[in-house]
Amino acid sequence: MSHKITLIPGDGIGPEITSAVVRIIEATGVAIEWDSYIAGAEALSRYGDPLPENVLESIRANKIALKGPLTTPVGKGFASVNVRLRKTLDLYANLRPVRNIPGLVTPFGDLNMVVVRENTEGLYSGIEHEVIPGVVESLKIITEKASTRIARYAFEYARREGRKKITAIHKANIMKLSDGLFLDCFRKVAPEYPEIEADDKIVDNTCMQLVMRPQQFDMLLLENLYGDIVSDLAAGLVGGLGIVPGANIGELGAVFEAVHGSAPDIAGKGLANPTALLQSGILMLRYLDERKAADLIERAMIYTLAEKKVRTRDLGGTASTTEYTEAVVASMRELGG
Ligand code: NAI
Repeated sequence: MSHKITLIPGDGIGPEITSAVVRIIEATGVAIEWDSYIAGAEALSRYGDPLPENVLESIRANKIALKGPLTTPVGKGFASVNVRLRKTLDLYANLRPVRNIPGLVTPFGDLNMVVVRENTEGLYSGIEHEVIPGVVESLKIITEKASTRIARYAFEYARREGRKKITAIHKANIMKLSDGLFLDCFRKVAPEYPEIEADDKIVDNTCMQLVMRPQQFDMLLLENLYGDIVSDLAAGLVGGLGIVPGANIGELGAVFEAVHGSAPDIAGKGLANPTALLQSGILMLRYLDERKAADLIERAMIYTLAEKKVRTRDLGGTASTTEYTEAVVASMRELGG
């Protein structure tokens, strides 16, 4: 069966890294029909909208997309395209696996954890107003429905991927009602998954623990703002945003994306590192249950970086985007793909 996937190359280095990832995925032999669309700065200049309706229609129809970085136009009146995508398609779960790539030197050598962030509410509900000049209010919305839904998503993911423990991160000691509700929902869902250990930690302590002894964590579950911050902190432990994958998942679809930006400083120069988007591609193949292809790409990517030491400049190497891409494809052949 062929998978039909919406492809959004994006801005800046987006087209270079997406064509690299498409080349590598196609080399696995998995049948994919790519449905390519323009979004971001180019769509804004062509159609007056950085997220044209036909992009959303395509994702709704295909239920899956691979997306390069999108430049958010600076200036008033433009919501981030990424935020719009998440809200419009109700992509409520943000998934960020954080794992060391062997051979890349980082402070901790053996990290393998997954950060799950609630994507739709909390302080990112966008409900802010000025009460009187000099006083503003920003509302933190936490609902039982969204908190239960994200908790269940995390436990289902843990069960499917053989994870052992989920730690809910909160500040319920201070925000007793809002974070308290988030935590209660997690605790109510947990008994349905007795094989998975459920515990919780306060967010400030979690940040300290993450930089001192991150190996204690398996999966972290966080509301929106804590999740945004802690997922980048976690990415930093294994080499930063150029390495880690990301996905936004909901009932209506899933968007697998590069979590870094469009890197205008190196765009078009053949220097971009496609590893982060490639890792998102691996995540996407697992989501599609194409596990064999996902495992092969993962092994080839690690082999290329760690054994062959073919790396792009941001990782201290000299390879161009194309040289690195072809080296991963050659590694796949070598490893039996
Ligand atoms: P950026 O992530 O684009 O760049 C920061 C630095 O990292 C630059 O020096 C860049 O060359 C380097 N870099 C990033 N990705 C790289 C890669 N794959 N290979 C090699 N080097 C890489 O962040 P910046 O400059 O703050 O943002 C640029 C634009 O990207 C902005 O318009 C911003 O709104 C957008 N952006 C989009 C995101 C998305 O679509 N998910 C996420 C973050 C930013």
